[in-house]
Amino acid sequence: MAKVQNNLVIEAVDEIAGAIRLVTGVDGAVLHEPMIGQVELDAVHHCISGGFVSSVGPAITQFENMICDYTAAEHAIAVVNGTAALHLMLVANDISSNSEVLVPALTFVASGNAILQANAMPHFVDSSPADLGIDVSKLDGYLADITEMRDGCCWNVKTGRIISHVMPVHVFGHIGNVEGLNALAERYNIKIVEDAAEALGSWKGGCHAGLFGTCGALSFNGNKIVTTGGGGAILTNDAKLAKRIRALATTAKRDHPFLYWHEARGFNYRMPALNAAFGVAQMARLDAMLEAKLRLRMTYQDAYLTSIYATFFAGPDDCQGNHWLNAIQLDESLSQHRDAILHGLNERGYGCRPVWNLLFELPHFKDCPSMPLDQAADLVNRLINIPSSAMLASDLVS
Ligand SMILES: Cc1ncc(COP(=O)(O)O)c(C=O)c1O
Repeated sequence: MAKVQNNLVIEAVDEIAGAIRLVTGVDGAVLHEPMIGQVELDAVHHCISGGFVSSVGPAITQFENMICDYTAAEHAIAVVNGTAALHLMLVANDISSNSEVLVPALTFVASGNAILQANAMPHFVDSSPADLGIDVSKLDGYLADITEMRDGCCWNVKTGRIISHVMPVHVFGHIGNVEGLNALAERYNIKIVEDAAEALGSWKGGCHAGLFGTCGALSFNGNKIVTTGGGGAILTNDAKLAKRIRALATTAKRDHPFLYWHEARGFNYRMPALNAAFGVAQMARLDAMLEAKLRLRMTYQDAYLTSIYATFFAGPDDCQGNHWLNAIQLDESLSQHRDAILHGLNERGYGCRPVWNLLFELPHFKDCPSMPLDQAADLVNRLINIPSSAMLASDLVS
């Protein structure tokens, strides 16, 4: 029996690795690497020579303006990383210690950590197998069972807390059922704050990720489509909120040439100019990166058409995603063998990885409320990310 299973794993690894080899033309590839060249070196050099290396300087404004121009957001506030962006947007939204924030269990740990850091309680919800976002109709039925509206607020009758916010996550750049979520959020008077960390360059219905609710957070970590080394930004169309976020990111210091008066408990979250200069050079590459990523995705999709062990995870076809990370979904018969298959693929030199552990399973989230998570659990057992760097699409301009 063990031998039969072993053969099955070997055959699956052969087939999956064969498709990666066919698409990329290389014998080994990391999961995702940034594209950095002379323009980035020049931009950082110019920033250092100009003397603006810390949290003020023209590069920061230029980077923020480029983000606004690209996303059509009215405001973009650049910060030190995506996790700080998530934390800051929750604090600026007046989250209280009696609040619960609905968040998918299938996300990177930062989404849940930011909620705890803002003194609120993550409340885990299930994910849709079609788009990896929140399963809105399942959530609707669940909220009908566990909540009641009192004084215009959505009370969780089981925990005695108010469900004040929902944080959709655009996993791998796919945008899920945001229209359904908007309608549901309106009915329950719940505000939407988006974790769009992975979704720079993703659009749906003419709206960029991060702008479907009150505000959204982007990440510019080294593994993202545009990197600033470390960095993040908050997008919003609300001028008052943008002003508050900007102030809180800068220790809430009153604008004054020499006095140190702080209006509130703020944070030192502003992005340094060095990183912003790097980001300016990277933003200029964004269109080329998106084009290359689309090409890579289409080639992968074709390569897995005849696969018997895995299907390419195409995501929703009503969203124009950024194709940040490609994923395949193992056949159900292989869900017990995910890790053995991952070992095999990594031994062949392909940096493949599983999706995250469900946050609910991590020790520091063990007391958080949760709805049944059967779909998310199945996705965890079967999804595998495959090498997705833009330069794997041949003929990309460097
Ligand atoms: C879904 C998600 N949320 C939040 C983050 C946090 O961003 P950062 O690493 O910039 O803090 C990341 C990425 O790293 C992410 O993938």
